[in-house]
Amino acid sequence: MGTQESDERAGGGTGRRALLGAAVLGAGGAVLGLSGTARAAGNGQGGGQGDGHGGGHRGGLGDLPVPTVIGHRGASGYRPEHTFGSYELALDMGADIVEAGDLVPTRDGHLVCRHEPEIGGTTDVADHPEFADRRRTKSLDGVDTTGWFTEDFTLAELKTLRATERIPANRPHNTLYDGRWEIPTFEEVLRWQNEQTRRRGRQVWIYPELKHPTYFRGLGLAAEERLARLLRKYGKDRANSPVVIQSFEPTSIQRMSRLVGNPLAVLLSDADTRPWDFVETGDPRTTADLVTPRGLKEIASYAQGIGPTLDLIVPKDADGRLTEPTALVRDAHRAGLVLHPYTMRNENPFLPAEFRKGGDPDAYGDAFGAFRAYFATGIDGIFTDNPDTGVLAREDFVNG
Ligand code: G3P
Ligand code: CA
Repeated sequence: MGTQESDERAGGGTGRRALLGAAVLGAGGAVLGLSGTARAAGNGQGGGQGDGHGGGHRGGLGDLPVPTVIGHRGASGYRPEHTFGSYELALDMGADIVEAGDLVPTRDGHLVCRHEPEIGGTTDVADHPEFADRRRTKSLDGVDTTGWFTEDFTLAELKTLRATERIPANRPHNTLYDGRWEIPTFEEVLRWQNEQTRRRGRQVWIYPELKHPTYFRGLGLAAEERLARLLRKYGKDRANSPVVIQSFEPTSIQRMSRLVGNPLAVLLSDADTRPWDFVETGDPRTTADLVTPRGLKEIASYAQGIGPTLDLIVPKDADGRLTEPTALVRDAHRAGLVLHPYTMRNENPFLPAEFRKGGDPDAYGDAFGAFRAYFATGIDGIFTDNPDTGVLAREDFVNG
């Protein structure tokens, strides 16, 4: 199967990456402002930074503090993900970059911000009787998935829906905001980025991800060219543009490297998984091959960074506790790549076991302790659902 499962496990309901809940706890055994001392990132041109390598390389990624705090789907710990409410809160909280958004196309070819093509778990589509007959079961990267898919809706139809909280069992407070926001298009995000940059008097960065690009290309809805066209239209297609592009499919990032000059990052799931584009093209390599010095060197020939799951940086033992860091940070830096792993979340079920407090699945554990452990590995940034916690943890870390 493909590798876009990242760090959320398939659960019930219509979302193929639904929630982690109390069961996971059992299985595991168990601001604002920035510090002036955060170091600058690399130059976004294959020059990774690691410790001290960022000095003198300004522009592009080099303009960002390190470790860089990336608002995962906005501030999705506090608001329904991939909404302007979530994106703006991430900026209010001091995120250096906002993951706006995960990109999937509509039937009429617009890129919209949803975590997955299937939208039953993040919108109120199930409450719309006029769309009841759009419910389908499809094979998505080899996984049978049931629900409603963006490619079966026009943009005008999608705009009649409203966003809802993906994991209400863990984030009951966020359901307060269900129904408040529309699904953003990526073009709206680009305009919003300009407006927010003006309003806040600082450059706002975004970090869109191409979701399931091989799947969509097969449907005649290739996303890379659409993304490149929009970036060009808004003058954001250059190496020093404040837009970093990511994907779990290496060939999609290679394609983007031929279309635009933006900083690019290859996402990496668990070591034993295989990117779906590799499955489709018969490339036998797995993620374990990609994180070798040879694999990283090849990635560095077309990308500036990697976005590994945190378990590739520090694996966990059978009880869910952190073990020793791998060589990935060192090897990626040697290849000239920055590392932006995913995903830090404050709630107990998502933390390494030693940082959990009690058994309540929506209670916070010792998130600062977990941030500290991950920052200590030398990573260049981190995706987090809780940017305010990430910014404070970064301040603690760099001020030491
Ligand atoms: O983009 C980094 C991280 O978002 C990858 O995982 O599944 O949350 O898109 P996912
Ligand atoms: Ca993502």
